[in-house]
Amino acid sequence: MTDDIVAALAGPGWGVFDDFLSRDETAALRAEGERLRAAGRFHRAGVGRGKAALRDDIRGDEVCWIEPGVAGAASDALLARFESLRLEINRALMLGLFDAELHYARYAPGAGYRRHLDRFRNDDRRTLTLIVYLNIGWRPQHGGQLRFWPSTDQAVLEIPPRGGALVAFLSDRFWHEVAPARHERWSVTGWYRRR
Ligand code: OGA
Ligand code: MN
Repeated sequence: MTDDIVAALAGPGWGVFDDFLSRDETAALRAEGERLRAAGRFHRAGVGRGKAALRDDIRGDEVCWIEPGVAGAASDALLARFESLRLEINRALMLGLFDAELHYARYAPGAGYRRHLDRFRNDDRRTLTLIVYLNIGWRPQHGGQLRFWPSTDQAVLEIPPRGGALVAFLSDRFWHEVAPARHERWSVTGWYRRR
């Protein structure tokens, strides 16, 4: 799968990869996220870098940053997997990816994230976005799709947040938004940064 991810980034600059995680890995990651949330470790996500503003109308998720040795074995395994992916991508594409920041995100029913780019206006280090979905048994009628614009002259794609799937894209190029869902919607999002 690593080769497919590298090829997608080298070509169109984005890709969707079903079964990046097994069902067991997905369930374990979700359980670790639920435990962190029960322990009060999530906070409402802000908009922008630095003094981030809380804007329900723009972005409605709550997040918890993932550090090694904190969340549990499944999160640590994902960090390790993302790290080897980083090395492979650097080797193949010379993107100069230096480190990664990862967080859990949980959208309550009705919450979404309006159309945006992942690269901040005042901080251009974010280079590659990876999103892994933790929603086993997700159905189209649950909503919550990632709406993704491959280019300005192409129609928007509707990507369901199906458990175990990975979405990868170059952070500065692709507009996207999260449609509100009828169920809670979980993911881990990672951004690889260059220096
Ligand atoms: C983000 C984001 C999309 C998704 O966190 O920046 O756009 O499908 N997430 O969760
Ligand atoms: Mn985004």
